[in-house]
Amino acid sequence: MTTGKLDGRVAIITGSGGGLGAECARVLSSHGAHIAVVDINGEAAQQVAESIEAQGGQAMGLCTDVSSEESVEAMVAAVVERFGRIDILHNNAAVLDVGQRQSDRDICNLDMAAWDRAIAVNLRGAVLCCKYSIPVMLKQGKGSVIFATSGLGVQGDLSLTGYATSKAALIMLPRLVAAQYGKQGIRANAVQIGLAPAENAHESMPAQLLDILRDNHMTPELGTPRDIANVVAFLASDDASFVTGSTLVADGGFSSHTPSLVAMREFFEQSGRGGM
Ligand SMILES: NC(=O)c1ccc[n+]([C@@H]2O[C@H](COP(=O)([O-])OP(=O)(O)OC[C@H]3O[C@@H](n4cnc5c(N)ncnc54)[C@H](O)[C@@H]3O)[C@@H](O)[C@H]2O)c1
Repeated sequence: MTTGKLDGRVAIITGSGGGLGAECARVLSSHGAHIAVVDINGEAAQQVAESIEAQGGQAMGLCTDVSSEESVEAMVAAVVERFGRIDILHNNAAVLDVGQRQSDRDICNLDMAAWDRAIAVNLRGAVLCCKYSIPVMLKQGKGSVIFATSGLGVQGDLSLTGYATSKAALIMLPRLVAAQYGKQGIRANAVQIGLAPAENAHESMPAQLLDILRDNHMTPELGTPRDIANVVAFLASDDASFVTGSTLVADGGFSSHTPSLVAMREFFEQSGRGGM
């Protein structure tokens, strides 16, 4: 049984062999979409696709390097061959492994190979997936493109220079897609994702760090992959038919408040003023 919100729609979700992408695959499937589970880790993609099919959904796993034009072109052709159309493209893939995080540092200490990788996968990858998927959507006269961006794409931080720069560009891309193809029925939006680690990822983070992060959220708890997947499902669906060229912020208010808010709240608590 599905909700029917995305019945028969075909969704490509890149980087969906794990993490938020896999949760998006499961949630979009629960709304009736057929899913192309795309990842550079083909085995992981296959496993996610099989788990969706075991739940009664339709899915195919594809081993694709989104930074390679040949690989993306072949992936889109395979999706069209199996499902006959493309209604949703969620550009979720990003290179985020430990080695990449350790070498994508502040500018003076930046490993340029890590910069190149971040731009190639996170940005060029999203452009390539658009380049090959949008022509299919144009033939149908309808489509929704979604980009996974991050608070780090709009706020300065100490490290991850390449990642942050790629994520900033992913806020511009939906505006370009909306401007270039909106009249032909294509919508495009970004989701500015806050901290939404998989449930077990919380456990690997120091409690003190989690407290700092929780204090800076304007929600009682941190986000989960399901919170993000629900936003992606909304943008993919006709419920968002008048939403295009925008960035929807899904970060529990992390980027919505004054930088001094947490320190001010502590100050008011300590001085016993104002019940803040
Ligand atoms: N998890 C968060 O808290 C958070 C916060 C802000 C933004 N985001 C964004 O959400 C998206 C998903 O994040 P996540 O935490 O699930 O990351 P993740 O590392 O768990 O998943 C990324 C996936 O992309 C795949 N991938 C890497 N390189 C690829 C390539 N060249 N081609 C195809 N696939 C490739 C990986 O194999 C992996 O399965 C990313 O775009 C990330 O920037 C996540």
